[in-house]
Order: sequence, then structure tokens, then C-alpha cells
Amino acid sequence: MSVNVEKRVDGPGSDEHAEQAWELKERIRSDEGVLKQRRRFFVDAYRRSKTHLLFLDEDLIAFASARRDGYILFLAVAPEVRGEGLGKRLVAEVANDHGSVSCHARATNEEALAFYEHIGFEIERLIENYYEDGGEAYYLRLGEKSGLREKFSDLFRR
Ligand SMILES: CC(C)(COP(=O)(O)OP(=O)(O)OC[C@H]1O[C@@H](n2cnc3c(N)ncnc32)[C@H](O)[C@@H]1OP(=O)(O)O)[C@@H](O)C(=O)NCCC(=O)NCCS
Repeated sequence: MSVNVEKRVDGPGSDEHAEQAWELKERIRSDEGVLKQRRRFFVDAYRRSKTHLLFLDEDLIAFASARRDGYILFLAVAPEVRGEGLGKRLVAEVANDHGSVSCHARATNEEALAFYEHIGFEIERLIENYYEDGGEAYYLRLGEKSGLREKFSDLFRR
């Protein structure tokens, strides 16, 4: 499948694919109850960040937006293409751009937490009342010893 996947990038200041990203995020939110950010926050944050996007034909199937400090704001993979390494590939793209990669994940989002820990993130702390609805979040950081960083550094070295 990956041979047909095309990568695109929206750098800071560009929102060329923001609408498609918003639609994928909203599909996941309504089906799974995660990625609850409001539109205003999403669009503003998207414009300020660098977003790696993966397309299959002309359909957006996954994206990750990261701030200049390597903090992942949004990570979303369409449900029909999960488990194929796309989420890991997007995190690796961020890791390739930044010395340090971090993120928050809702404490009840077991799938995301299992994914992040599996690829080498470590929980740094639990933050109460992190979300607007009062939900708790874990703050996670990609471990320095994570195999991901080493494994992908070869792939991306130019
Ligand atoms: C979390 C998410 C990004 C994972 O994307 P994905 O493309 O399915 O993940 P990958 O296929 O790249 O998985 C990478 C590795 O993590 C493992 N993994 C993925 N999901 C997992 C889970 N729920 N539990 C345990 N391991 C998991 C995979 O088995 C794979 O292991 P491997 O490298 O040993 O083969 C995706 O499920 C998603 O978009 N969820 C909804 C949105 C969301 O919660 N985003 C995060 C908000 S903080």
C-alpha cells in the first residue's frame, strides 16, 4: 500500500490542506470521541505548525502537525488504514525535523497511549483538568533511547 502513498507538507504559514485535515479530524471525533479541538483553535494551530500529510490518490489518509519545538499538536490516521505503520511514519517525520518530540494524550485514549508507548514515548506526567471538558492528559516525550529515532534517522538522512 505504501508505494501509492504520497507525502505532502504544509509549512508554517500555509493552510493549503487544512480543510481536508479538519474533515479527517472531525470524522475521527464523531466516530471515536477523540481529537475534540474546536475549529478556531485547530485552524490557528495548523497555520502556525508544520504538517506532514499522507495521501492515497487524492484522499488525505493521515497527518501530523508539530510546533517548532517538536511538540505534536495533532496526529490522525484514518481508521481504514490504521495498523500499517502510517502513524509511526508521521512521528518519525517529526523526529527527523526536531531533536525532541513531545505530545499530550487524553488519559482515556488507550489506543493512542498504547501506540505512543509502543514506539518509544515515555509518560512524563499526568495533568488534571487539561482539556476544556475537565479531562486529564498525559504529557509524553519520545525517549532518547527510543529505537524509532535511530531506526528512522538512516531512512531520512539526505
Ligand atoms: C494512534 C494512531 C495515530 C496510531 O496510528 P497507526 O497508523 O494505526 O499506527 P501504526 O500502524 O504506525 O503503529 C505503529 C506501531 O504501534 C503499534 N500500535 C498501534 N496502535 C496500537 C494500539 N492501539 N495498541 C498497541 N500498539 C499499537 C503497532 O502495532 C505498530 O507496532 P510495530 O511498529 O511493532 O509494528 C491512530 O490509531 C489514530 O489516528 N487514532 C485516533 C486519533 C488519535 O487518538 N490521535 C492521537 C491523539 S493524542
